[in-house]
Amino acid sequence: MKITVVGAGNVGATAALRIAEKQLAKEVVLIDIVEGIPQGKALDMYESGAVGLFDTHVSGSNDFKDSADSDIVLITAGLARKPGMTREDLLNKNATIIKDVTTQVVKYSANPIIVMVSNPLDVMTFVAWKTSGLPKERVIGMAGVLDTARYKSFIAEALDVSMQDISALVLGGHGDSMVPIVNYTNIAGIPLTELLPQETIDALVERTRNGGIEIVNHLKTGSAFYAPAASAVEMIEAIVKDRKRVLPCTTLVEGQYGIDNVYCGVPVKLGKEGVEQIFEINLSVSELEALQASAALVDENCKSLEALLAS
Ligand code: NAI
Ligand code: 2OP
Repeated sequence: MKITVVGAGNVGATAALRIAEKQLAKEVVLIDIVEGIPQGKALDMYESGAVGLFDTHVSGSNDFKDSADSDIVLITAGLARKPGMTREDLLNKNATIIKDVTTQVVKYSANPIIVMVSNPLDVMTFVAWKTSGLPKERVIGMAGVLDTARYKSFIAEALDVSMQDISALVLGGHGDSMVPIVNYTNIAGIPLTELLPQETIDALVERTRNGGIEIVNHLKTGSAFYAPAASAVEMIEAIVKDRKRVLPCTTLVEGQYGIDNVYCGVPVKLGKEGVEQIFEINLSVSELEALQASAALVDENCKSLEALLAS
C-alpha cells in the first residue's frame, strides 16, 4: 500500500503522521509545491517512527513522479479559509490548484482512490472526478465524517456521555447548508430527542453548522486540522482495511434523494473499491428539502467552473 498526501500543510502533515502511526501503508509520500517543506516534515515524521514504533517509510517531494503507483491519494493542497472568508470564496483559486494536482496524480498512478479534503469540498471533489477520468466510486470527499464528529462531540459534552456511544449523520454539502439528521441521532440506541429538549438540540445543530468557522475565529491564521485529518484518515483506514464502514461521504449522487448528478454528502459503504454503496434513508420533508437545497448550491458552483474544466 502506497499513500500519497498532496499538500504538506496543517491537514496534510497531520494526516500523513496519523497514517504512518496507524501503519496503514508501507510508504507515505508527502508532496507540496513549497520546496523543503514536504522533505523536512516527512523526514521528521519518519524519524519519529523509531520512538512511535512504526516502520512506514515517509518521504517528501515537490515532484509528482514520486507519487507514482499510489493506491490512495489524499488531496489537501490549496488555500485555507481565513476569518471573514466563506468556503465559496476559495472556489476559483482552489479549483485551478485541484485541476493541476489531479492531472499530475493520474499521470503517475493508473487507478488510485482519491480522497479530497480541499475546500470548497464538494465542488473540489467534482473537479478531481472530472479531471481524473476515474470512476466516480474512486473519487470521494471528506466532510461528513468531520461534520458528524463535531456534532457528536457537542452532543457528548451536552449529555456528559462518551462520544463513542453516539451514532449520528450529517449530510449535504460541507458548508452552512450542511444537514445534521436529528431523527437518526441516538445515544446507544436512545433517540437524542428523548434526552435533550428541542431548544438545546437546535443550538447543537447550529454549532455544528458553524463548527469550521468557530475554529477559524480562534486560530485567526488558518482553519481546523486535527479533526479534519483524523476524519480523512478514518476514511482511508476503511478503504485500506476494506472495513465496509458506513460513513457520510461526498460522492456522486445520481438520482438518490431526488438529487441528480451532484457531488454531495450522503451515507455510503466505504471499502477497498471506494464508495461501494449509497444508502438512501427516509428523511423528513424538511430534511430532504434542506439536502436538496444544499446539493443545488454545490451544483451551481460546479456549473460556474465549466469553462475552467473545459480548458
Ligand atoms: P495549509 O495552508 O496548512 O496547507 C495547504 C498546503 O497546500 C500548503 O502547504 C501549500 O503549499 C500546499 N499547496 C498549495 N498549492 C499546491 C499545489 N499546487 N501542489 C501541492 N501543494 C500545494 O491548509 P490546511 O489547513 O492544510 O487546509 C488545506 C485545505 O483543506 C484547505 O482548502 C482547507 O479549506 C481544506 N479543509 C477542508 C476540510 C474539510 O472538512 N473538507 C477541513 C479542513 C480543511
Ligand atoms: C472546516 O470545516 C475549514 O472546512 C474546514 O474546518
